[in-house]
Amino acid sequence: MNFPHLTNANILVTGSSRGLGLAFVKTLSKSDVEHIYAGCRTQSGCDTIKELNLPNVTPVLLDVTKQSDINNLSSTISQLDLVINNAGIASACGFSSENALDISKAEMDVHYFGSISLIQALLPLLKLSTKAGIINISSIAGLSNFKAMGTYSASKGALHFLTQGLRAELSADDIFVQGVYPGPFDTRLAANYEGPKPSPINIAESVLNSYCERQYEVFPDEFSTNMHQIFKNAPKELEEIFSQ
Ligand SMILES: NC(=O)c1ccc[n+]([C@@H]2O[C@H](COP(=O)([O-])OP(=O)(O)OC[C@H]3O[C@@H](n4cnc5c(N)ncnc54)[C@H](OP(=O)(O)O)[C@@H]3O)[C@@H](O)[C@H]2O)c1
Repeated sequence: MNFPHLTNANILVTGSSRGLGLAFVKTLSKSDVEHIYAGCRTQSGCDTIKELNLPNVTPVLLDVTKQSDINNLSSTISQLDLVINNAGIASACGFSSENALDISKAEMDVHYFGSISLIQALLPLLKLSTKAGIINISSIAGLSNFKAMGTYSASKGALHFLTQGLRAELSADDIFVQGVYPGPFDTRLAANYEGPKPSPINIAESVLNSYCERQYEVFPDEFSTNMHQIFKNAPKELEEIFSQ
């Protein structure tokens, strides 16, 4: 499968060791992109990618909360057209839980501050590209609070507002900024969710097709599409559904 806007593109994906990040890397490696940098939090994640022997894929050590890892990217990456901010963590933690502050800080570090640090570091390279873009993987829980994962929702909401702000700021540089708001899909992160879960490969393909169609906001599965419809018509109704 090819993605028209990504022909010969150089792409960095964060959180590539498993789940959706790995699905992006596998899907892109079968297309006509130039090169994929598979960001992994740990060396063992990098080794996993290396063992897969995927064409045009280079694993890079990248914990998005570590400024030193972000600084080191410049020694590996000299051309870049797309960054996919996918790295994520989640806890079943509400704001009244005893450990809410620590959990909340950790989630904000990965989803919000990590994305800002990475974008700040890579903007000079993106500005050299004639087809630059950023994809931020938020969540449908970033538009309305999920009671069971309150702190996670807040961090994904912060990423949503980062996405909107960047879109406004970077339109003058012709950098396309896309926000993605999935419902539950089948990875470690959603292991405890018991409803239907699409495969991460289906989510990755849907996101990349929507990117090429220049959709600013993507709801890549049935659950998020339905919940977004409710959100558009009656935000309070979605708040009530998610508070069950
Ligand atoms: N699965 C869902 O139902 C769902 C729904 C909506 C949105 N999302 C979002 O989709 C994205 C991908 O999640 P997933 O479902 O694929 O989860 P996953 O299978 O748990 O994978 C998460 C990935 O993020 C990496 N990561 C965690 N902390 C990191 C850090 N500090 N720096 C760099 N990488 C880090 C993990 O690395 P390690 O393997 O080294 O821990 C792993 O590669 C996340 O942003 C998540 O919030 C998921």
